[in-house]
Amino acid sequence: MEERGQWSSRLTFILAAIGSAVGLGNAWRFPGLAAKHGGGTFLLVYLAAMLVMGIPLLMMEISISRKFRKGAIESMRGIGKKWEFVGWSATSNAFVIVCYYSVVFAWVILMFVNSWQFAGMTNKSKEASELFFKLTETTGKIEGFGIPWIVLLCLVIAWGLIFYCIRNGAKSVGKVVKFTVFAPVVLLLIMAVKGCTMPGAAAGLAKFFIPDFSALSDPTLLVDAIGQVFYSLSIMMAIMFAYGSYVGDDANVAADAMIIAFSDMAVSVLSGVVMFATMGGTGMLDDITASGIGTAFLVYPQAIVNLTSIGWLNALFGAIFYLMLITLAIDSAFSIVEGVSAAVSDKFHIKPKKVTITVCIIAGIISLLFVTQSGLAWLDIVDNWANSFNLIVIGVLECVAIGWTFSLRKVLNEVNKNTKRFKAPYWWLASSIKFVSPLLLAALFIWNVVTLFVQNGGTYNPDYPIWAQIAAGWAVTILVFLSGFIAKAIINSKKKKGFVEDEVVWKD
Ligand code: PHE
Repeated sequence: MEERGQWSSRLTFILAAIGSAVGLGNAWRFPGLAAKHGGGTFLLVYLAAMLVMGIPLLMMEISISRKFRKGAIESMRGIGKKWEFVGWSATSNAFVIVCYYSVVFAWVILMFVNSWQFAGMTNKSKEASELFFKLTETTGKIEGFGIPWIVLLCLVIAWGLIFYCIRNGAKSVGKVVKFTVFAPVVLLLIMAVKGCTMPGAAAGLAKFFIPDFSALSDPTLLVDAIGQVFYSLSIMMAIMFAYGSYVGDDANVAADAMIIAFSDMAVSVLSGVVMFATMGGTGMLDDITASGIGTAFLVYPQAIVNLTSIGWLNALFGAIFYLMLITLAIDSAFSIVEGVSAAVSDKFHIKPKKVTITVCIIAGIISLLFVTQSGLAWLDIVDNWANSFNLIVIGVLECVAIGWTFSLRKVLNEVNKNTKRFKAPYWWLASSIKFVSPLLLAALFIWNVVTLFVQNGGTYNPDYPIWAQIAAGWAVTILVFLSGFIAKAIINSKKKKGFVEDEVVWKD
């Protein structure tokens, strides 16, 4: 057996986990949700959701996989043989997500490469907002299957970069995150200075920070806050299982999880400052929307061309913005691939590098669908199902499996193994994993189902044909949850040919 990869230091692990957590979600989803839900009110509810659900579940995933030294599939098998399918579901869902996350990453590269075009668009908001559509030839509907060559090129670059970063697992990831975690923060700080020194910025910041408590009456506040916590911390996606499995025995999981979660939140708040100050400064405060892709590719370009009256300076700020998004997205994108390939390579005893190459190639081919002219519409559908349904159900199953059929005392001991000052208390983990998280997530799932069927008559977006929503939505969901059973059949036939499954045991 080869020695299992390990992080070169405690800091490397923390950086890698922060790199995964801090992604496009922080830059555009978080500010958009804050705009929708009364600024400071959203910040407070988000903080509460982080403490009540996010951090305990993050600790749980890291500590369990560290103990087993296995990715998501085998770690869930270690919890109980009947729960292996939950690990498979998380891994499959992560695979689905990377197929389109890589495309968003490619679009960000595309915009970076084309940011010089902003130089000739000073004060021409309409033209700036159309750049993305022009470059990608997006129809916004399920129409058109051509692929613009420039977008294809960016996609190939995106996959090349992803593979390069994870080609040697923890070893190569450890090296790149030293750069990809700090670079976006520096770029965000530059943008914050520019934004905050514009007249009108104060109004933007007031809208971001001052709570508007009337927003509390909207139940979607809670739905969005919980969804954002899950999405942002990269939990329930096989990622933290993979990263946790490389953590050394001397690591302090309780403290590390706190550092990861609060750094993630800090970057979200910093992105909010940039977004609200800039939009306040360019008189576009009402244009911040909860749709991330809209904000980054349609709304923000308008702000860029109105920043100053000097074309090249605006183009420079545009380039900084998209470079920031590139560095933000890359470590999230490769973490998903790593989550998938670690889980599969642990399960089948295949060399990690071989699995990584295979995953990149298959996901790369599937991702072609999302760079076609109808790609944005497909992406919208798949993203909705992956996050509003699959992720939530996986969350409920994981909590039930670990909270109700496994010993939380054991998990807690593992979390607190090397803590000196800060120890996570039992009541915190137990109340979250057994009750609060599964119940809230189940409620969220029901809410989303009711919204889809009762309120919207079964269609997520009436602009898309129903067959497309069934194919890219429900069919994918069914596959995600069946994947464990399909795998079981494959494993059983392999067993006949002499394949032996690992025994995954919790050694006290
Ligand atoms: N946490 C990342 C973000 O905020 C998103 C992400 C999603 C990362 C899925 C990995 C997997 O953008």
